[in-house]
Formats: sequence, C-alpha cells, structure tokens
Amino acid sequence: MDYTLLAAQAIQAKKISLPTYSNFHVGAALLTADDKIYLGANIETSSYSLTICAERTAIFKAILEGERKFKAIAIASDAEDFIAPCGACRQIISDLCGEIDIIMTNQKDELKILKTSQLLPFAFSDKDLQ
Ligand code: THU
Repeated sequence: MDYTLLAAQAIQAKKISLPTYSNFHVGAALLTADDKIYLGANIETSSYSLTICAERTAIFKAILEGERKFKAIAIASDAEDFIAPCGACRQIISDLCGEIDIIMTNQKDELKILKTSQLLPFAFSDKDLQ
C-alpha cells in the first residue's frame, strides 16, 4: 500500500483523539499483513499517567480483533515536525508488531520512515525470557 494513504488515515484519526489535558491530538493508522487498517488515537484521563498513546490504541484494537501480522504504522500530530513513538510504544510495537515500517508525518506532508529496530535497537523481547 502507498504509505501516503496510510499517513492520510493517521491524520484523519486525530479527530477521534481525546487529549483532554494536553490538547495534543495524535492519530495512528496500523496496516495489517493483509492490508486492513486499524485507527488509533490518544486518550487521556484525569489520572494523567493512565493516558494511552495513539499507537497503542490502534495496536490493541487490532490484536483484540484477532490480527497478529503487521506491515506498518503511521503516526500524525499537529506538531510542525515529525513525532516519533514514545519509549513505551516502541516496546509495544517491537513485541506485538515486530519489524515493521514506522511512518512519521509532519505539516509539510513529508514522511519519515524507519524500521522498528532503528527506533528501538537492542530491544528486550520474549527471547530474553527463555
Ligand atoms: N502521544 C501519543 O499518542 N503518541 C506519541 O507518539 C507521543 C505522545 C500522546 C500521549 C499524550 O496524550 C499526548 O500525546 C502528549 O504527550
């Protein structure tokens, strides 16, 4: 799939975010191996640390629908520059999505594409638990 289209879905997903406290809208669009797209957005609560990022809502939605194989995730915000997934999301992407393309967007309609292992080198994983 053309990643411009996936990025457009992430931009759309910002509309469903609930950033009550930060007012920082983030959208994510997760592409499965068979080209289905799951949208996610950040959700905040009054107990700030319980906030969940856009990337994780998209991934958990997909996992709970039975999806297990993924190709890419696109992330969009209203920031001028590209935003990258936070550390917690990098771990979740690494564990649940594996080596996928992570597509970041900015306000100039540019895309920056990195692999999971580029954003989280030397990752902890299930292999370490054996
Ligand atoms: N946030 C995301 O949803 N994804 C990111 O990649 C970075 C941060 C959210 C969490 C919080 O709701 C808001 O952005 C400000 O940190």
